Amino acid sequence: MNLENKTKKQLIVEIKALHRRITKLESADASRFRCKEGHREIDKKLRLMADSLPVLISYVDSEQRYRFNNKAYEKWHGHLRKKIYGKHVKDILGKKAYEDIAKHIKSVLSGHEVIYEKLFQYKNVGDRFVRVMYVPDFGEHENVQGFFALVYDITEIVKAKQILRLYAKRLGEIEETLRKRLAQELHDKIGRDLAVLSINLNIVSEKLPDKVRKKVGEHIKESVRLVEETAEYIRDIMAELRPPLLDEYGLVSATNWYAEKFFKQTGISVKVQAPKMISRMSIDVETAFFRIAQEALTNAAKHAQADSLIINIEMTNRIFRMTITDNGKGFSLQDTTESKKQSGWGLINMQERAEAIGGQFKINSSPGKGTQIIVETKV
Ligand SMILES: Nc1ncnc2c1ncn2[C@@H]1O[C@H](COP(=O)(O)OP(=O)(O)O)[C@@H](O)[C@H]1O
Ligand SMILES: [Mg+2]
Repeated sequence: MNLENKTKKQLIVEIKALHRRITKLESADASRFRCKEGHREIDKKLRLMADSLPVLISYVDSEQRYRFNNKAYEKWHGHLRKKIYGKHVKDILGKKAYEDIAKHIKSVLSGHEVIYEKLFQYKNVGDRFVRVMYVPDFGEHENVQGFFALVYDITEIVKAKQILRLYAKRLGEIEETLRKRLAQELHDKIGRDLAVLSINLNIVSEKLPDKVRKKVGEHIKESVRLVEETAEYIRDIMAELRPPLLDEYGLVSATNWYAEKFFKQTGISVKVQAPKMISRMSIDVETAFFRIAQEALTNAAKHAQADSLIINIEMTNRIFRMTITDNGKGFSLQDTTESKKQSGWGLINMQERAEAIGGQFKINSSPGKGTQIIVETKV
């Protein structure tokens, strides 16, 4: 730069320009600095927030090394943050736990969100049921540069559910015992007495002198008819309480019988689809399936305005499944209006019955599309 050839005036102009540039650069630098401070401020707040949450939060990079964890994480695992930072997941969780979840880590690192529930053993808090959520962190080029792991404690919920299931199972057992006992008493006492009454009436009618029979014969006939009707009615109640077919011939026979009876009572046709030969399940499983079918049919008659139903019973890949589909008006599963909330406990009971035998219950329905109930269990 040749300063000697510049006039004083030129120099002053250039100095002023330089000055302006320096001020500009300085203010840019200051704002950059302020920005950094701001980031630090945000970082601090985020950490404070993460530390105050009762959820285990961590960030793991694509090499599966910890880059962040909150206080809850430290507390449960019994390691200080600085001990966790930079460590491989396997070193913190242990070999066994790592092997169990390696597939989930692989999945999140290939860009999928993962949710799973699992029983873990933590150094400081012991056994916990947790719901784990992995969220992939995508870099600029859509590459996964790590993932966030959120771990919620669901031990209380799981335990409460286990207790509820035990109660539901017990309730189901008590109901079945009562039904059986009532059916037996009806059979042993009332059934027998009615049979005797009927025989006696016939004897009386035969032994009567012709003159008397003429007078009271009609009354006796009417009485015999009434006794027979009552006996039939009692047999119906007995079968309703505990269909003998269920114990003797199993679910498919009992379902066929019930479907026919249901058609006679409601006019709604029920098609039962089942393989000709299907192995018997335990009586608990068959009873649960049968009661679920009964409730589903009752609901279809009561709420659906359906005119036909299909009950499909199948066994595939060691899964025993029953699907009940109606062609009625359906309903919204999200509907939480007061009237719905107060409605019966049929749906809940179906679910509890399914879960009490270790099975699963699913319901598909939406307004105008009919309702489908699926219950299945591993055998
Ligand atoms: N097959 C169905 N079609 C239409 N709506 C149904 C059906 N099954 C159940 N629902 C709806 O779900 C509600 C709850 O059913 P449920 O628990 O069995 O109780 P309840 O039958 O005593 O009302 C019913 O009141 C009805 O609105
Ligand atoms: Mg119901």
